[in-house]
Amino acid sequence: MEFKENAITTEIYHELRSSVEWMNFNVEQTAQGLSHSLYSLAVFDAEKPIGMGRIVGDGIYNIICDVVVNPDYQEKGIGTEIIRRLLYYLKEQTPENGRSSIQLIAESGKEKFYEKFGFETVPNEASGSGMRMIIRK
Ligand SMILES: CC(C)(COP(=O)(O)OP(=O)(O)OC[C@H]1O[C@@H](n2cnc3c(N)ncnc32)[C@H](O)[C@@H]1OP(=O)(O)O)[C@@H](O)C(=O)NCCC(=O)NCCS
Repeated sequence: MEFKENAITTEIYHELRSSVEWMNFNVEQTAQGLSHSLYSLAVFDAEKPIGMGRIVGDGIYNIICDVVVNPDYQEKGIGTEIIRRLLYYLKEQTPENGRSSIQLIAESGKEKFYEKFGFETVPNEASGSGMRMIIRK
């Protein structure tokens, strides 16, 4: 098993999203999106891509997205290792006396997976609900 930084190609992205039955984006939008990643990880078993995760953001506000492990490889700790490494990257990037915010939207029922790392669901005492809008054309 090999973890490679910033190595997600359009093909890998499409293949892994399809493996968990997520919709895909066209080639142009995918390439543009990937090129704007702050940091990403692709996981390989020999040459086969089996997992990925991405951070999109500016170091102050950061979104973890596209966390996927191919179903044949799930429940083996790979997803945990992806998140652990993404968080390590952000901790290293956060300057002394600085602060950075990490956000994500858990798939329905996946909250527990993220709570282990310290993520909190909102709303809570300090914050209202997370909100989002999808634009479709
Ligand atoms: C979510 C996902 C990335 C987890 O990857 P994984 O490699 O199977 O996760 P791990 O093997 O590291 O599991 C880690 C822990 O989370 C738990 N876990 C995994 N999937 C879970 C789920 N759906 N609900 C609750 N807990 C879950 C495991 O039981 C394990 O618990 P443990 O540490 O107490 O043993 C993977 O299931 C996946 O790709 N799912 C489809 C896409 C998806 O939903 N991505 C997340 C978007 S928010």
